[in-house]
Amino acid sequence: MTREYVWLITGANRGIGLEMVKQLLQSPSNIIIAASRNPAKATELQGLAEKAGGKLHLVALDVTDKESISQAAQEVAGVLGGKGIDYLINNAGILPGGEDTAFSLDVDILASTFATNVGGPVYVAQAFIGLVEQSEKKTVVNISSVLGSIGSDVGVIWASYAITKAALNMLTYKEAKEKPDITVISMCPGWLQTDMGGPNASHPVSVGVEGVLKTILSLTPEDSGKCFNFDGQPVPW
Ligand SMILES: NC(=O)c1ccc[n+]([C@@H]2O[C@H](COP(=O)([O-])OP(=O)(O)OC[C@H]3O[C@@H](n4cnc5c(N)ncnc54)[C@H](OP(=O)(O)O)[C@@H]3O)[C@@H](O)[C@H]2O)c1
Repeated sequence: MTREYVWLITGANRGIGLEMVKQLLQSPSNIIIAASRNPAKATELQGLAEKAGGKLHLVALDVTDKESISQAAQEVAGVLGGKGIDYLINNAGILPGGEDTAFSLDVDILASTFATNVGGPVYVAQAFIGLVEQSEKKTVVNISSVLGSIGSDVGVIWASYAITKAALNMLTYKEAKEKPDITVISMCPGWLQTDMGGPNASHPVSVGVEGVLKTILSLTPEDSGKCFNFDGQPVPW
């Protein structure tokens, strides 16, 4: 019998999250929980679920709403019936500040971006960690960005977003240190053609996601607490 691995992906209704669901469905060994704010309106996910033979489950989860996260965790535990979550992918994210800068950014925008890009992954990990620890792979992936890497020296703009991704990277480090039994990484998916990345991004979303999944599948426990690019290369903090 094929060994099955369970994936939970937040923000799975479009962009990188949706492409992850599509690519993961190509292997019969994956069971996927696709979390989105409003599954009733997630028509692409619904279409995929109809053809997935029970391998794709849709769940409502708003990463800025603690109650929604805890309800989703209960629902998912019921769906999995004793199985754990092998790969928890904190993918949902926003970039409302656009090309703002340190000396022009609006702190209200910074705070709302922080709530989604950092608060979301914090509470999602807290709510789902029990299920992750019950799994074989015990892996948490925080979808970050090279823009949050001070060592990559990416310059002036996208300041509020970059600040939240730098904080997310610290969250990865702290989670990895606190729980050596699990593998936690930050992953930079590349500049991809999604609503966030825009049509002029370097790569189609399929290319970035292929690299992201390949990198995740080759992780070892020694990789915990680190940041990787979609080509599998380490990204400096
Ligand atoms: N695209 C790039 O070039 C790029 C580069 C580096 C990193 N990233 C990161 O990759 C991740 C995905 O980006 P993307 O390009 O796929 O963005 P996207 O096309 O804008 O999609 C964002 C996804 O996040 C969801 N989301 C936003 N706020 C949410 C909330 N409060 N609760 C639940 N879901 C929420 C959205 O759901 P709704 O449809 O309900 O709004 C949507 O599914 C983000 O973390 C982003 O920072 C992207």
